[in-house]
Amino acid sequence: MGTENMANYPSLKGRPVLISGGATGIGEALVRGFAEQGAKVGFVDLAETEGKMLADELAAAGGTVAFRQCDVTDIEAYRKAIAEIEILHGPTLALVNNAANDTRHDWRDVTPDYYDARVAVNLRHSFFAIQAVAPGMIAAGGGSVVNFGSIGWMKASGGYPIYASSKAAVHGMTRSFARDLGKHGIRVNTLVPGWVMTKRQLDLWIDDAANAEIDNAQCLAGRVLPDDIARMALFLAADDSRMCTAQNFVVDGGWV
Ligand SMILES: NC(=O)c1ccc[n+]([C@@H]2O[C@H](COP(=O)([O-])OP(=O)(O)OC[C@H]3O[C@@H](n4cnc5c(N)ncnc54)[C@H](O)[C@@H]3O)[C@@H](O)[C@H]2O)c1
Repeated sequence: MGTENMANYPSLKGRPVLISGGATGIGEALVRGFAEQGAKVGFVDLAETEGKMLADELAAAGGTVAFRQCDVTDIEAYRKAIAEIEILHGPTLALVNNAANDTRHDWRDVTPDYYDARVAVNLRHSFFAIQAVAPGMIAAGGGSVVNFGSIGWMKASGGYPIYASSKAAVHGMTRSFARDLGKHGIRVNTLVPGWVMTKRQLDLWIDDAANAEIDNAQCLAGRVLPDDIARMALFLAADDSRMCTAQNFVVDGGWV
């Protein structure tokens, strides 16, 4: 993340942060951003090579970074990875539920097993990560959870009804947990990305038609980059956002 003219959050220094799906895409920008702030960064991902390379690079630069290869749809494996990271870094005080998979699906072809698998990668793990780290946050007197939503379902995008359902459910999960955990000083928010120019989006979807759609829909002329999303996550994890909870924070260049 380019640091020039960017905010520094003293409260993030030394703070144990857990990020799912941190090896590539927006997750990589999150890992880099929190490491730059001096946080203790734990992250999990399916992608072992990319995850290891990122952790090694940041550790060599002086960061406190731990990576565990893990499929977050395997809840027992995910719980084990979280426990291992917490042994190294201490109880998680900021959780960023970022991992997801937006693979397109035709509603005609969906089987019950496929349906469950999409929900598992786009919604279920976030609940169980909150369940795993909340006791430590409660004991510490507070914490911050950042769940990842999407503008996709808000703007009625087609082609991925189960992804859209799961992301809409994330917004509801945020609201309910914000109530239950707020009494313990834990804040729970949804970070809502617009169309973000990750490698996956550029490789799969960004063509002339997509660029025309973005130019037409966004109020701002630029492109939303992974770092733009990471910067909002830093704010939401830091004490600077201490009275923000149960909200959506949209970073989409003004998509209307
Ligand atoms: N890129 C966008 O335009 C956009 C738009 C709206 C919302 N979002 C949301 O932002 C978040 C990040 O999206 P992204 O674009 O960086 O996605 P991405 O597909 O580029 O990266 C996702 C990361 O999660 C990992 N991952 C996927 N399944 C996993 C699993 N089962 N276990 C562990 N790790 C797994 C992947 O290996 C990858 O590193 C997601 O929650 C996504 O829904 C992205």
